Amino acid sequence: MPSDASPPKKRLLIRTWGCQMNVYDSARMADVLAPLGYAPTELPEEADMVILNTCHIREKASEKVFSDLGRLRGVKEEKAARGERMILAVAGCVAQAEGAEITARAPYVDIVLGPQTYHRLPEMVARVSRAAGAVIETDFPAEDKFDHLPETAAPSGPIAFLTVQEGCDKFCSFCVVPYTRGAEFSRPAAQVLAEARRLVAGGAREIALLGQNVNAYHGAGPDGREWGLGWLLREVAAIPGLARLRYTTSHPRDMDEDLIAAHGELPQLMPFLHLPVQSGSDRMLQAMNRGHKAADFHRVVEKLRAARPDIALSSDFIAGHPGESDADHAATLALIREVGFAQAFSFKYSARPGTPAAGAGPQVPEAVKDARLAEIQALLRDQQEAFNRSRAGAVMEVLCTGPARHPGQMAGRSPWLQPVHFDGPAQLAGQIVPVRITAGHPNSLAAEWLGGAAKAPPSHQEIRAA
Ligand code: 5AD
Ligand code: SF4
Repeated sequence: MPSDASPPKKRLLIRTWGCQMNVYDSARMADVLAPLGYAPTELPEEADMVILNTCHIREKASEKVFSDLGRLRGVKEEKAARGERMILAVAGCVAQAEGAEITARAPYVDIVLGPQTYHRLPEMVARVSRAAGAVIETDFPAEDKFDHLPETAAPSGPIAFLTVQEGCDKFCSFCVVPYTRGAEFSRPAAQVLAEARRLVAGGAREIALLGQNVNAYHGAGPDGREWGLGWLLREVAAIPGLARLRYTTSHPRDMDEDLIAAHGELPQLMPFLHLPVQSGSDRMLQAMNRGHKAADFHRVVEKLRAARPDIALSSDFIAGHPGESDADHAATLALIREVGFAQAFSFKYSARPGTPAAGAGPQVPEAVKDARLAEIQALLRDQQEAFNRSRAGAVMEVLCTGPARHPGQMAGRSPWLQPVHFDGPAQLAGQIVPVRITAGHPNSLAAEWLGGAAKAPPSHQEIRAA
């Protein structure tokens, strides 16, 4: 910041938990509050407003909110004793699901707002500034928040997120998302493309399209037709200057032929896909209301590998869903062995109030869940290590994100999403650079920079013209 810039009037601290969608939402809340004079801070003591952007997906995630609130209460009271005001807001999925409980357990919270009401934040801030008492906004408003949010600010680095779809209509037995994020909704394609162009103009080299069910995308196209995600990806890939494209999170049921074909066509679409399967047992997949069998997942993987032979996969697994037997668990381990994952997330089943599985039986004892999760995680860890080790010696392009922790070292992302470290000058930040992998570690890759920056891959338009 130039030294003659006038100091910002107010400070805003946003803490974010959970998925990348929440990371995107936090950035949009900052955008909406910037015109009111709020500039970011990391320190609660200097914050005029603190927003906790929360996650309700598992019990552990929701509990963190209340412990954090307890700590912030002290800071708020100290500030009040000095005659300073701190507005405390709880946003995100815990706010949506437990709005009343938050104000009952933590009456010092000023604002509780659900994910569909972020565009109304300035009005809520004005209301708490005028009057005492908490403001709660957890309805699903009739208007679309995306029509009311300001344009995205420039991305903070070469990797940007862009929400294209929200909500979910799938109602998996264990999941709170259909209740906290509401019905499935796709943003119009023109709106998405305009935001993508702005992000690229602001320096983004890689964009990840986000949605709770991103491959269910069915937005209105500027040509009057409904676009699926495959078509949207082709059009985003055609934006000059955009080098890399990803999308997350997908459902196996929505991996249609057109989307799979896009993986074969688009060099910008990175050879890595997060595709949660949750279980390898057909009995459990049915109990989970997933709407597909293990064989369907295998078929999708086969097709993806045929379209893009270097594609690597990630997934989500749940250990100990109600009714899960030893045989069901064994089927999950078998699926993991058969498919082979470059990385994956696995969770102990956590009963979420209001979801069908919470009341289903029989619940699996905690110790059994722990043992099954440990087995799944050991297998996934081995696969991840083997994948990373298999990269040693490979030459690949890495998107350099900025300096690493060690002086003289830069950090970046491989096409397969691993963090990569290599010696190089700071000017490489934001560029795609060629490197040779010197070692594969459990969670990252070590590399040597081969000098220079790589040419961005050809755009879809260039490919079409060729
Ligand atoms: N218990 C455990 N894991 C869950 N997930 C969603 N709900 C639950 C729950 N109740 C996991 C799923 C999902 C990921 C985001 O979180 O694996 O894909
Ligand atoms: Fe939750 Fe299932 Fe929807 Fe994914 S598809 S958000 S797990 S309900």
